[in-house]
Amino acid sequence: MTDTIIMFVHLMAAAVAVGGSIFGLVLLWPHIFDLKKDDAVDEHSASYKVIDLLAPTVFTCLLLLIGSGVYYMMENYTEQVNLKEGYYNILGIKLIFVVVAFLLSLYQTFGLRSKIAHLDLRPENREQVRPTLEKMKYFGAITLGAVVAAVFMGIYLARY
Ligand code: HEM
Repeated sequence: MTDTIIMFVHLMAAAVAVGGSIFGLVLLWPHIFDLKKDDAVDEHSASYKVIDLLAPTVFTCLLLLIGSGVYYMMENYTEQVNLKEGYYNILGIKLIFVVVAFLLSLYQTFGLRSKIAHLDLRPENREQVRPTLEKMKYFGAITLGAVVAAVFMGIYLARY
């Protein structure tokens, strides 16, 4: 039962991380940048606010994924003697993608996003909105790729 709950949390977090990123990058992005190059980006628009929330959402999902993944391994440590050879090689490759996704998400949430948050208190940062959002899109796409690769490796691992 515990295993089922942990895997449920693991899979839900993966679904929200992937779904949230696709929603932000594919559906909302064209909305925000459907402007001429020199138009200011409206930070009060709904799409800007959702983009603002998506970075910490993906980061929280990654924390949940790491927590539930490590907990699952600790719960099942007695069965690890029966694992097929090569299991940890696949897990190792998966963890490389996890580390890439985690570090990029950390940078987006606490580095880039905080630079353009609370613009009413720091109006001098207003001109950084567009380049910062462009960077968030770029790193968001790489993060999404790394999470999707980790999902693939996870499914492969579970059926190895
Ligand atoms: C971006 C982060 C991650 C994603 C997207 C992810 C995704 C997945 C997916 C989709 C599965 C397959 C579940 C199934 O088909 O039953 C899985 C299984 C698993 N994951 Fe993750 N995972 C992530 C991070 C981690 C981390 C950090 C660890 C632990 C160090 C971990 C350990 C495991 C384990 C032990 C399994 C079960 C494998 C088995 O049944 O033998 N995962 N993961």
